[in-house]
Amino acid sequence: MDCLDGPGATAHDEVVARIPGKHALLSMVTDVVDRSVIEAGTSLRIIANVAVGYNNVDVVAARERGIVVTNTPDVLTDATADFTLALILAVTRRLGEGERLIRSAGWPGWAFDQLLGMQLRGRQLGIVGFGRIGQAVATRALAFGMTVTHASRSGDGMPLDRLLATSDIVSLHVPFTSDTHHLIGQAELARMNRSAYLVNTTRGPVVDESALAWALRSRLIAGAALDVYEREPEVHPELLTLENVVLAPHLGSATTDTRTAMADLAASNVIAVLGGEPPLTQIP
Ligand code: DGY
Repeated sequence: MDCLDGPGATAHDEVVARIPGKHALLSMVTDVVDRSVIEAGTSLRIIANVAVGYNNVDVVAARERGIVVTNTPDVLTDATADFTLALILAVTRRLGEGERLIRSAGWPGWAFDQLLGMQLRGRQLGIVGFGRIGQAVATRALAFGMTVTHASRSGDGMPLDRLLATSDIVSLHVPFTSDTHHLIGQAELARMNRSAYLVNTTRGPVVDESALAWALRSRLIAGAALDVYEREPEVHPELLTLENVVLAPHLGSATTDTRTAMADLAASNVIAVLGGEPPLTQIP
C-alpha cells in the first residue's frame, strides 16, 4: 500500500510516478485521474473514487483498459441534501451578512427592518437534476412548506427555461459532464427573477462564475449560495467582494458519519474487485 496524504490535492506527477504496480487507486474528488495516470497504472484493476461525482476520472480511458470505476452514491445523499437546505436558509435569511455585521463590531442592536430576508413557506424551489440528492432536497423543502418543481435530463418535470423564470430558488443537482458545463450562464441568469436565489452544491463548472458575479453585482438575481467553484480552491475574486453570496468550502458531504461511510464504501469496492467479486457501486 502507498498512501499519499496531506491537505489539498495530491500532486499529479506524484500519482503518475507511484501508480505503476498498484492494483487499486482510491482517489479523492481533488485527484485528477486522467489518461496519463491510467496509462501509468499498468496493473490497475479498480479506481475507487471517494465521491458520488466522478468527473475527475477519465472513465473512457479506464473502460478501454478494463479498469472498474466506482463511486460512493447513497451514503452522502442526506448530508448533501441537509447542506443544501443550510445554504438555502443562509442565503435567504442573510446569515453571512449577519455574522459579518457582528464580527465587525458594527452591530447597532436589534432593529425592526434589519437584514430582512425571504420566507420559504409558499415559495417555489426549482430543482435542476432530480436524482437521489435532488429528490432528498425536495423532501426537505416540502417540510418547509415550499412548492417544488424540477427539470431533469430524462425530460420529465418542467423545461429548464420555465423553471428558471418561475422559481424563487433554483438549486443545482446535475452531475458535471460536457453537457452540463456552464448550464447556468448569462442567458439563464437573466431568465431568473430579480428576487430569486441560485444554490450550487454539485460542481462549480455547471455555473459560469463570471456570469454569476455579473448577475449578482447587477442585482439581476437576489443572491446565491455556493459550495463548489469552477477552479477550486480558487474563487472568482468578485464573488469574494459581494454581500449577496454565501460561500462554503465544498462541504456538502462533510459530516463525520458520511465521510466515514464514503471511505468504507470505497474500501469495500476495492476489496470486492481485488477479491474477484463484483463491485458494490460501479458507475453506470
Ligand atoms: C461528491 O461526493 O461528489 C462530493 O462533491 C465530494 O464530497
